[in-house]
Amino acid sequence: MIAIYPGSFDPITLGHLDLIERATRLFSRVIVAVLRNPNKTPLFTVEQRLKQIISATSHLPSVEVDSFDGLTVNYAQMRQAGVLLRGLRAVSDFEIELQMAHTNKTLSTQVETVFLATSNEHSFLSSSVVKEIARFGGSVDHLVPPHIATDIYQCYSQIPLWENPMTTPRE
Ligand code: PNS
Repeated sequence: MIAIYPGSFDPITLGHLDLIERATRLFSRVIVAVLRNPNKTPLFTVEQRLKQIISATSHLPSVEVDSFDGLTVNYAQMRQAGVLLRGLRAVSDFEIELQMAHTNKTLSTQVETVFLATSNEHSFLSSSVVKEIARFGGSVDHLVPPHIATDIYQCYSQIPLWENPMTTPRE
């Protein structure tokens, strides 16, 4: 069974990576799919994010990294994936994730959403939290792989505080 793990991944965190590693034990192939979202102003371009994810998952042979636009279910069907994978950190995630799963079900009955609970140690972690910490000069070394931490520090060293892209609460 092929699973799609869609998201913004701006940037990918250790929480995402933990989920991907666990998903490789459940599915024959896991496609990490970065949404090309014209409605968001990301910190990293899609191309930068693809590079970051490829190097963070290079030890996982059954993982593929790709980008897509449009509806996730259409992309899933195009890739012949039967599962959309999403992580659940807390009850607060549940409402929006359930709504998304229900919406996707109305768009395609072929694709099932599967939720994996994030591990306890990552239950607080999000891309937004990482950006917020780095933006104000904190260390994110314990939250993202080293090469991504370097990218983040470099990014924020170049952007004046008042020009940093604002982030949504949960990404
Ligand atoms: O990492 P994110 O930002 O929480 O991921 C959200 C994502 C990309 C999975 C979601 O926004 C999505 O699937 N967008 C594509 C458009 C779509 O299919 N919408 C219908 C489901 S609500």
